[in-house]
Amino acid sequence: MKKKIVLMYFLLVLVIVGLYPSSVAANPELVETGRLLAILLDSGRVTVGSVQALINDPNKGDKGFTPEVFEQKLLVKFKERSGVDLQDLQNEKVPPMAKKLLPMLVEASKKTVVTYQPIINKQGMGFKNFIPATFGTHAAAIFTARTGFYLRQTTVDELLRNPKNKADQFEAATLKKFADPNYPREGEKVISATVDGGKAVRVMLPLFYLKGCLACHGEPKGERDISGYIKEGGKEGELGGAISVKLALK
Ligand code: HEC
Repeated sequence: MKKKIVLMYFLLVLVIVGLYPSSVAANPELVETGRLLAILLDSGRVTVGSVQALINDPNKGDKGFTPEVFEQKLLVKFKERSGVDLQDLQNEKVPPMAKKLLPMLVEASKKTVVTYQPIINKQGMGFKNFIPATFGTHAAAIFTARTGFYLRQTTVDELLRNPKNKADQFEAATLKKFADPNYPREGEKVISATVDGGKAVRVMLPLFYLKGCLACHGEPKGERDISGYIKEGGKEGELGGAISVKLALK
């Protein structure tokens, strides 16, 4: 009888170990790839934000914000934030998966700027709704369609503008941790978790409001911004949202 119980315990342990392979839990490569993808998507958002005044200029036709100009700015921004030079990616110390996926996100980002060229270069039109959020949604959708990997921007319910960006349970719980004033504002630190019985990881990168965000998300709270949404009264350094990624080993 005792033998049977010991044997059952042994089998139980085997099943549990089998269900949760430690390979992914301890797979820093997936986490680092997710972190870099999130920084890259946000670098594109910030790059678009940095030329917002130019894009919104109704007096100018050709803005010169070509996919090539965008890419150049994007690579500089990304290198500044991640330390990774995408122009010399093969020699950079990043996971093999990142070497494959980062260029695909650059392509998706450029494709977005290509698609929006006619709108960007429209004369006589001020606000064109080509803003960091539109860019981010579009580029992430292309990336997901091409790779099958989940990538998007989200935020807490109190700040949510587009219902499509509503946080799921994991995202909501992670956003709460980001909102803690003690969460590091520097260093592009992510929070990650192993999911799907150990087969995938979820990675989130927080986005804190920069000065440029506040024209739309800042004070005075309740007033309409240029895009027609209600300003949230956000302040520089406060949590604005996050980039959320899910990657799996194939
Ligand atoms: C020109 C105005 C404008 C600026 C500048 C701007 N945003 Fe937004 N933001 C918006 C709008 C409009 C949406 C909703 C877009 C949509 O309908 O998908 C949005 C959506 C978002 C979202 C997605 C969640 C949601 O509410 O749908 C996040 C996160 C976000 N903004 C953060 C930022 C941060 C951080 C910055 C600065 C780097 C910034 N935004 C700059 C107008 C702006």
